[in-house]
Amino acid sequence: MKIAVLPGDGIGTEIVAEAVKVLDVLDLKFETESALVGGAAYEAHGHPLPESTLKLAKEADAVLFGAVGDWKYDKLDRPLRPEQAILGLRKNLGLFANFRPAICYEELVGASSLKPELIAGLDILIIRELTGDIYFGQPRGRRVATDGHFPGAEEAFDTMRYSRPEIERIARVAFDAARKRSKRVTSVDKNNVLETSQLWKDVMLDVAKEYPDVELDHMLVDNAAMQLVKAPKKFDVVVTGNMFGDILSDEAAMLTGSIGMLPSASLNSSNQGLYEPSHGSAPDIAGKGVANPLATILSAAMMLRFSLNQPEAADRIESAVKQVLASGLRTGDIWSEGTKRVGTREMGDAVVAA
Ligand code: NAI
Ligand code: MG
Repeated sequence: MKIAVLPGDGIGTEIVAEAVKVLDVLDLKFETESALVGGAAYEAHGHPLPESTLKLAKEADAVLFGAVGDWKYDKLDRPLRPEQAILGLRKNLGLFANFRPAICYEELVGASSLKPELIAGLDILIIRELTGDIYFGQPRGRRVATDGHFPGAEEAFDTMRYSRPEIERIARVAFDAARKRSKRVTSVDKNNVLETSQLWKDVMLDVAKEYPDVELDHMLVDNAAMQLVKAPKKFDVVVTGNMFGDILSDEAAMLTGSIGMLPSASLNSSNQGLYEPSHGSAPDIAGKGVANPLATILSAAMMLRFSLNQPEAADRIESAVKQVLASGLRTGDIWSEGTKRVGTREMGDAVVAA
């Protein structure tokens, strides 16, 4: 087993170091190799995703990724910006299935802005299609309008596009995931308005026939946004397209209190995956040793479960994290009265010890 370790920028290097420490103590047989990515790679090689980094990622069984980006790169041409590295990795590795669990740990119920009874025990999984939809659909661009409400005016356009096989494969990912949980899938679309959503719903219904043991329901995206804050525990697995998933998964993240707790996985059809925290490079706290490493440590657990076939090791990491939270240790983002504030490294050490 080979893991490509790509810490990236900002707090990326600090939090990935803690996750690697946790992996090391498990005493499993794997090789790790690190490479630069994002702004760090741009500084050293003039490109955010150098050929050598991409090659390492492609050859590995899994990629453990920190975060990329810094405001100082905002003036660079778009293809040279750090964020292009993550888009390039998704595209080149064919990472079409994005798993974003939103779990509310018992000890952190108070950190959410929602009432405790709404989120205590929350454990939902948002599955976002990652390589299609309006973010990639052609044609797109800017032009002078020849029709519409303002002919002759400057306009811009994007194309929302999905093919049947693209929807089928993400549907199967969602139904398979639901089989291992409470056997319910909510498919989110906007089929009352959009043709792509109508195809999405048709394909979901077709694929559901292969999974008679899983219950499928459909929800319009605007209603899903409301239900997520009104009664989030009603959901189990949510499957949706790239743009709706982008928005809903960030909304779900906030239910749990801190983005510093939320892992993610992006998988391709051979279960090769990229694992990263849901947050970014946090330039405002980078280098201070205060970032919460738990999202990255929990991403490493997802990596062991999904790509490296080590479910027991994944369980060990997750229960160690729970134990550390129960012992009262908190980084600043999840700190509250009566708990003990610790830094990035102390938090990592505590997980290792547990
Ligand atoms: P961010 O997620 O980096 O930070 C948002 C807020 O959350 C900040 O106040 C930050 O201090 C805090 N935060 C984030 N992670 C934390 C952690 N582990 N522990 C404690 N606090 C944490 O998002 P922001 O500020 O919008 O973006 C910063 C940079 O990150 C930008 O360059 C952006 O493009 C990049 N970014 C990269 C992503 C990636 O690499 N996949 C994803 C999102 C943003
Ligand atoms: Mg987002």
